[in-house]
Amino acid sequence: MKGKPVIYPVHLTATYKFKQSDDLIDVVQNRSGFLYSRWDNPSVVEVENELAALEGADKALGFGSGMAAITTALVANIKAGHRIVATRQLYGATFEFLNEVLPKLNVETVFADCWDTDRLLREIETGVDILYLETPTNPLLRIVDVAPLARAARKKDALVMLDSTFASPINQKPLGLGVDVVIHSATKYIGGHHDITAGFLCCNRPHFENLWTHRKILGGVMDPMSAFLASRGLKTLELRVQRQNKSALHIAEFLETHTKIKTVYYPGLKSHPDHEIAKKQLAGFGGMLSFEIDGNFDQTKGFMDRLSHVKLATSLGGVTSLANQPITNTHAALSPQDRSKAGIGENLVRLSVGIEPVETLIGDLKEALKNV
Ligand SMILES: Cc1ncc(COP(=O)(O)O)c(C=O)c1O
Repeated sequence: MKGKPVIYPVHLTATYKFKQSDDLIDVVQNRSGFLYSRWDNPSVVEVENELAALEGADKALGFGSGMAAITTALVANIKAGHRIVATRQLYGATFEFLNEVLPKLNVETVFADCWDTDRLLREIETGVDILYLETPTNPLLRIVDVAPLARAARKKDALVMLDSTFASPINQKPLGLGVDVVIHSATKYIGGHHDITAGFLCCNRPHFENLWTHRKILGGVMDPMSAFLASRGLKTLELRVQRQNKSALHIAEFLETHTKIKTVYYPGLKSHPDHEIAKKQLAGFGGMLSFEIDGNFDQTKGFMDRLSHVKLATSLGGVTSLANQPITNTHAALSPQDRSKAGIGENLVRLSVGIEPVETLIGDLKEALKNV
């Protein structure tokens, strides 16, 4: 038949048939084709190749969630007795995995504040098998100075991993900063429409086989429908992120001058403590920002309840603007002391800027701030 689909189809199949045994044996021995979808699936391979090209990586691997990608990457690279150095400001479940699960396997993680480069360098000097970073951080958008840390860790023959979810592959290229394994929760910017739960690892060839084998064993592979939707997300990623970068800066500047706002956390503002690092490390400052209302918990909750275009929801990175009060959900499990150490107050709001007209979003925020 003449004519081929413009869009790569969804391959909803768990297994693959062969005309003769020799072909099946060849696939098993040489991975020259498809055998079973926990190993590889054409729709998943398609989006993996697209993302690898965008990240400038040799390879990418798709997972059923960001956490499946993170836990597989760590399990694939640890041995009993290993020492991981990590930034303390990590996504909650990542912190729990490092802090509560890996010690059961006799793997220790030392945490240091992500802005304290000197302390991180001292910990790396003391001994490191894996350096685990996440930047920009949640919810205060701190920017880790990646290159010197990665250089020091590589001198010690350590593997460097970085969760680049908040930046997306458009705003940050971690491989160029000396990172070995780049992590994305594709639930966020890559998917971009709040309709998939998915994750990716991107790496160069030396790390690929080990990660692939562990994905096969642990089983957290991406499903073909999510792969299809992630691939669709990639087609508009740059357009979306560029608009989100622009709108977020506009909103951050508006909030910074508003009398009912105490502080705005956005790496694109000169007032942000990591603005200089952000300028050298990021191609765009991102679509995420946080701010403190000049009020208490109830006043902040009231503000949230008055938003109409911006939806009250957790998650981030999609076409619809979402806001949440970190202390009620993403950081609810932290003790009041840990929360205050992390700088997460009862009046803090996190905003994920979508692709709506920025005037609509500013109008919504203005209206909701009126009664604070
Ligand atoms: C920075 C970061 N990493 C990883 C994850 C986990 O991703 P998922 O929910 O897709 O497992 C999240 C989720 O919010 C995140 O924000």
